[in-house]
Amino acid sequence: MAKADRGRPLWSRWARAPGKVILFGEHAVVYGHPAVALAIDLPTTVHVTAYGGGETTLSGCPEGFAKNRYLLEAAKIAGAEGLDVRVRSGLPRASGLGSSAALSSAFLAALLPEPLDRVDLARKSFLAEFNAQRQGSPVDTSTVTAGGVVGVGLGSAGVKLWEVPAVEGRGPWGFTRLRDPGWTWVVAYSGLPKATGPAVKAVGERLKEDTTHLLDRIARVTHDGSRALLEGNREEVGRQMNLNHELLVELGVGHDRLAELVEAVKGRVLGVKITGAGRGGSLVALPRPGDEAAVANLFSSEGALVFPVTVTKEGTGRLSGPAW
Ligand code: MEV
Repeated sequence: MAKADRGRPLWSRWARAPGKVILFGEHAVVYGHPAVALAIDLPTTVHVTAYGGGETTLSGCPEGFAKNRYLLEAAKIAGAEGLDVRVRSGLPRASGLGSSAALSSAFLAALLPEPLDRVDLARKSFLAEFNAQRQGSPVDTSTVTAGGVVGVGLGSAGVKLWEVPAVEGRGPWGFTRLRDPGWTWVVAYSGLPKATGPAVKAVGERLKEDTTHLLDRIARVTHDGSRALLEGNREEVGRQMNLNHELLVELGVGHDRLAELVEAVKGRVLGVKITGAGRGGSLVALPRPGDEAAVANLFSSEGALVFPVTVTKEGTGRLSGPAW
């Protein structure tokens, strides 16, 4: 339906959310273990125009909106209809960098009443993502909503942010804000998109036959890694990232392509690991200070899509002025 058919818009708003990388604890966090994640400066911007009724469209197309489960679930939660939604994102889809969390959080931020209640936004964004995937934890949605370095299940480490209530027997999850050491990380997307839901399901199957307590070992690495991060101990953070990577491979979320990329930078980084659901998707690497460009080049020459990133303090927020 063309915009002109819909009459005058009631209002128009836009909101923006950052991307995320998980530094420690992906998959284990689904089962109540701790994790650490970083909000990164790769934004998703959502522009919403409300017409007060009728079909909701994505860039003018009703089917586009109906096929996007994240937008659909978020609109249901906010009780919103008669919208046109436009999305612009620097994140490749299903890359492990939080595209669905950013979309859910930014869209809801445009729909929820002002002043924006961030706790409510974090909880509702998780529900939208969970209802769309039927799997997972709130680590991605809370990280993009909060911005900065975010811990989950780390007890008193950091400053308390919020709790996300349990869903279908999993959780609750307690979130804290950790200090950002200010380092540049290098993210490499393998070019293999992988959805989170099926990866989480496959891990569930793998865990049924796990006699080595893999999740407990990941939890130990997450505790040790988060302590090193808080101390600003770069070498130790890198060491724990490498250990976490090995455990993720043991968990069954590795991929030959990721192994090739790890091999290409191994001698040049302090740490490198799968980030997010794995089986494809992305890696995050921590170079030695000053080696960021060299590491980015090594990944690029292997054909990966590379993003040197820093942590952004800005979580999801409404914007004023032009969206793009
Ligand atoms: C995905 O970014 C992280 C996982 O731990 C799933 C989740 O926590 O929802 C694999």
